[in-house]
Amino acid sequence: MSTYPPISEQLDDLEAARTEGRRKMDWALQHMPILQELRQQFREEQPLAGATLGMAMHVEAKTANLVELLALGGAEVAITGCNPLSTHDDVSAALDANDDITSYAKRGVDDEAYYAAIEAVVAHEPTITVDDGMDMVYAIHEDYPELIDTIVGGAEETTTGVHRLRAMDEEGELKYPVFAVNDTPMKRLFDNVHGTGESSLATIAMTTNLSFAGKNVVVAGYGYCGQGVAKKAAGQNANVIVTEVEPRRALEAHMEGYDVMPMNEAAEVGDVFITTTGNRDVITREDFQAMKDGVLLANAGHFDIEIDLDGLSDLAVDEYEARDGVRAYEMDDGRRLNVIAEGRLVNLAAPVALGHPAEVMDQSFGIQAVCVRELLENGAEYDAGVHDVPDALDREVAEIKLDAEGVEIDSLTDTQAEYMDSWSHGT
Ligand code: NAI
Repeated sequence: MSTYPPISEQLDDLEAARTEGRRKMDWALQHMPILQELRQQFREEQPLAGATLGMAMHVEAKTANLVELLALGGAEVAITGCNPLSTHDDVSAALDANDDITSYAKRGVDDEAYYAAIEAVVAHEPTITVDDGMDMVYAIHEDYPELIDTIVGGAEETTTGVHRLRAMDEEGELKYPVFAVNDTPMKRLFDNVHGTGESSLATIAMTTNLSFAGKNVVVAGYGYCGQGVAKKAAGQNANVIVTEVEPRRALEAHMEGYDVMPMNEAAEVGDVFITTTGNRDVITREDFQAMKDGVLLANAGHFDIEIDLDGLSDLAVDEYEARDGVRAYEMDDGRRLNVIAEGRLVNLAAPVALGHPAEVMDQSFGIQAVCVRELLENGAEYDAGVHDVPDALDREVAEIKLDAEGVEIDSLTDTQAEYMDSWSHGT
């Protein structure tokens, strides 16, 4: 049995933290109409009664509202962070005050404590896992395979986690069903694009007190996140440069009007670099050597391996905290290269970071919640492996949101529906 303590046993001024955490949660919930609607349903119908959820996610106000929703639906929830810098301790403490929730998440823990907290969650013997980056699925498969028989399934939030799960599935190593929440339209087209775009740029601006206008902003990767970052940077009057390895995505960026070039060329002209690839070693030593004095380097991909910080550290003759959340690496020729939030995903890990806007996370977490409900209602229908979120669930969440926004849409007439389904009609 794990002896790692929940957050409530780790904080000095617990009551103040809980009050502040609750205040943050209340504000976010006001802007999360999908979760509000599901709260009513879950409270009345108790669809998660008897389930134990093990979660590893970014523990901040919006996630906390998801966690509370799942507990309201009848589940016992144990949660920890999925990144040592993204936890808000006060929110974690507010969650831990709920009798049905145990939160082990704490900001700034070292590797040992990070993994001890994951083990502490696993010790609750979850019947469902909810992940952002696959830490929980990985821990269970590697270290606690005896739990797999009683696990109904899981849900995975982000691109990197889904990539890893698909790789695991292809090798026949994924032993229970997991919904690819990331890949469903209601998540990916909003969270990855608008959420990452807005919150990454806002965090960089707040952390540095600098403008994007007139600057060369280099966006590495033109996937969903990269498209959002590029579009919003262009909207703030930056000149956007895109680097890619995938020819069609590079072409899309080119047709969108952005400059497209290899990183080693972009390195010479960029003022701000934002990596969004989900890959490793995207900005390396030879790029650092070509960069201008004063550049900003930030990562919005899941792991902190997109910018080669060890290589940068090797090249530097001096390193210091230039501002809260900004580490300057000084080169022997006097150039200063500034890394934001230790190269961890900037919109969650920088000191001022708040993550995605509440409205966006409302959609992503609405999907997470209905996926957990689906696993409990129909889990036996899903084999081990990665599953797309059923389209009906995606639509259900979209309809709740449209309704809350007061947006009405047309519906197909019977004749139109028949026409769309028919292959025999002529012109
Ligand atoms: P995606 O797969 O749509 O896009 C990634 C793009 O990067 C692809 O077009 C790929 O060709 C490109 N790429 C790969 N290696 C590259 C390299 N060496 N140089 C240039 N381009 C390269 O993935 P998506 O959804 O955009 O997610 C990207 C990352 O962001 C993932 O790690 C994901 O988990 C993370 N993410 C972060 C969020 C945040 O809040 N910061 C929110 C959602 C996702």
